[in-house]
Amino acid sequence: MALRNIRVEGDEILRKKAREIPEVTPKIVQTLDDMRETMVSSQGVGIAAPQVGIMRRMFIIEPEEGNPKYVINPKILREDGSQEYQEGCLSVPGVYGMVTRPMEIDVEYINKEGESIRETLSGFDATVFCHEYDHLEGILFIDRAKDIQKVDLGE
Ligand code: CO
Repeated sequence: MALRNIRVEGDEILRKKAREIPEVTPKIVQTLDDMRETMVSSQGVGIAAPQVGIMRRMFIIEPEEGNPKYVINPKILREDGSQEYQEGCLSVPGVYGMVTRPMEIDVEYINKEGESIRETLSGFDATVFCHEYDHLEGILFIDRAKDIQKVDLGE
């Protein structure tokens, strides 16, 4: 496994739409393993392929440490309710803001083993899923956030 460079806001790749993955190949699995390592070393709860410069529709969410969900070709089938969380993003370091997203979602995707998964996510899991899904569409949380706060990270 290897750490990948995280692209930061201003990099135009973060604004492009990612492409479907025709097949879960060893290279895709390798990339997901690298993404997880990169996410964990940056203390993130999610990471999407475009954040490491790969324009493919896949991401990882890990709202609960040690229990990562590997998500390939996701679809959001249903959204219900709304909730607000303070979000941040590895690609927008030092910036936080309140984002309103669905309280509950039905989703469909392929996992790292190539299996089709259909499930309902709610609460923080739903928020992280939607945040990462946005990355596949070239959307950043700051596009949706209010009460944006900037934290001086120093050097
Ligand atoms: Co993000």
